[in-house]
Amino acid sequence: MENLGGLKRTHKCATLGETNIGQKVTVMGWAQTYRQLGALIFVDLRDISGIVQLSFNEQTRPDVFEKAKSIRNEFVLAATGTVIKRSSPNKNIPTGMIEIDVDTLKILSISQTPPIAVKEDSNVKDELRLKYRYLDLRRPDIQKNIILRHKIAQAAREYLNSNEFLEIETPMLTKSTPEGARDYLVPSRVHPGKFYALPQSPQLYKQLLMMSGMDRYYQIVKCFRDEDLRADRQPEFTQIDTEMSFVEREDVMAMTEGMFKHIFKTVMGMDIQTPFKRIPYDEAMSRYGSDKPDTRFGLELINVSDVVKNSEFKVFSDAVQNGGSVRGINLKGKASSLSRKEIDALVEFVKTYRAKGLAWMSLTAEGVKSSFNKFLTDELIASLSKACDAETGDILLFVADADNVVFDALGALRVHLAKKFDMIEKGTFDLLWVIDFPLFEYDEEEKRYVAKHHPFTAPMDEDIKLLDTDPSKVRAKAYDIVMNGYEVGGGSIRIHTSQMQEIMFEKLGFTQDDAQARFGFLIDALKFGAPPHGGLACGLDRLVMLLAGEDSIRDVIAFPKVQNASELMTNAPDKVDEKQLEELSVAIRMQE
Ligand code: AMO
Ligand code: AMP
Repeated sequence: MENLGGLKRTHKCATLGETNIGQKVTVMGWAQTYRQLGALIFVDLRDISGIVQLSFNEQTRPDVFEKAKSIRNEFVLAATGTVIKRSSPNKNIPTGMIEIDVDTLKILSISQTPPIAVKEDSNVKDELRLKYRYLDLRRPDIQKNIILRHKIAQAAREYLNSNEFLEIETPMLTKSTPEGARDYLVPSRVHPGKFYALPQSPQLYKQLLMMSGMDRYYQIVKCFRDEDLRADRQPEFTQIDTEMSFVEREDVMAMTEGMFKHIFKTVMGMDIQTPFKRIPYDEAMSRYGSDKPDTRFGLELINVSDVVKNSEFKVFSDAVQNGGSVRGINLKGKASSLSRKEIDALVEFVKTYRAKGLAWMSLTAEGVKSSFNKFLTDELIASLSKACDAETGDILLFVADADNVVFDALGALRVHLAKKFDMIEKGTFDLLWVIDFPLFEYDEEEKRYVAKHHPFTAPMDEDIKLLDTDPSKVRAKAYDIVMNGYEVGGGSIRIHTSQMQEIMFEKLGFTQDDAQARFGFLIDALKFGAPPHGGLACGLDRLVMLLAGEDSIRDVIAFPKVQNASELMTNAPDKVDEKQLEELSVAIRMQE
């Protein structure tokens, strides 16, 4: 193995081109492929910029040729040579017109045969990729994502810096901040029996910074939430977190739109239209069955409750009479595109969203078919067709249940169908705001109201009077930013008086003592002159995922965790020494 010994890199691999022909250059990187053709050896050398071909000629430099023979995949090399025109150009790569005729070769590091193929789009099992993440990260497609992530974070910083936001760090060892997930706890050595919580978000600190007169804050910050993982959820993730003083809803929304505009322009070279569409929560639910609707395609939900409320088909009429609804989707022109087997698969699909079934009615040229034929009168056919604007060739799909189940099931079915029938144009970005969220959400398990956003969100002024009489009707000064069906950001105007904050805690079922013990510092701070303030946090991982065109945030995080929240490379979480536990006064009690 050799050291650099003063050798300097002159160029990154993929920056070389025909303009460099005749120049003496030094490149450094990893051997991606090795081919020997008689008296010639070709090596594709890869670094962060891409690939360049090295050539070794036995005739002109037998000693270097001999050394090159030992090169294997993923060896680390430094090569000095002259840029020459290639005899057989490769149009597929940017440096394909040239190669480097190497006269000096250093082998800086050797490599065992890598357990995964280090090349673009390699089809390797996820577990193996994550166990050897440092090799996986050498792949250009993943590197591209990590570079994109850097650029997006950079663009966000640029924008916020130029709008007088101060970047301020907030503690990681802190007290629980409720954002609806479980906390990660850290035991304290010096306070036996006491625990820090890792922040689910810097929510309270950023509010306190506004009360401290900092005017505008931002932080690109790790947040920790012990919740079930999904493709768009990791236990630790990153927010572009902001807060502003002396503002109302529209001010925060306009500032955020400006940030998105700047990110799209500088990173993607795209001009996006602002202001974004605004859709009230109720409308988002009734039209799309989701508070994060993908509006790149139609397939909107249709409420047919009125049409079927007296139907003989008990599935329909009972749902309406029990306070629920019957809603459907008109899959236009697809009556004959769906086989019975495919329809059965759709029924199973909605069942995973707690629906009890999926009733369908297909208007084919040969007549009407349905899953509720026994109850299908001519009158019902006519009224359902009219309500759903259906004509021959269409198939209607209905779910009957409590509203929340109907929305969940049809909201998901809508997206499923759009993907199945390729109704979503690739490479388009659909940005919108969902506003006017309810302040509270009823938690069936706990039998009490919980905050839909978090307990620090202000109610709409005109709804304050409903706090006592009809809490479920109170709307919040909250807003979510939605992109292609993902929630990429959320925020609100905050409560800025101690009186209102105390009312809010009371409505959420905290006793005064509880509230004081957990949030006394906030209630106190609100008594010393808090400016009206509000902000938003954008999920950086999700934003990068969408701009990168990936399906999982794992692909845009350098060292992500897997489904069960472990990290396969380091094997975290792991056991610790008995001595460490003792120091922390922690004893392990395994559950049966
Ligand atoms: P919220 O909980 O909506 O708001 O989070 C803001 C944004 O963070 C992203 N996000 C996640 N991304 C990946 N994995 C997760 N587990 C995860 N959880 C959330 C989402 C989401 O929109 N303090 C408030 C913000 C505020 O009110 O200013 C908050 O954290 O993209
Ligand atoms: P059943 O009466 O259970 O045989 O169901 C008749 C049809 O209605 C089948 O296509 C079921 O999938 C469908 N179905 C059953 N329950 C529901 C429901 N709650 N909503 C919509 N369709 C349903």
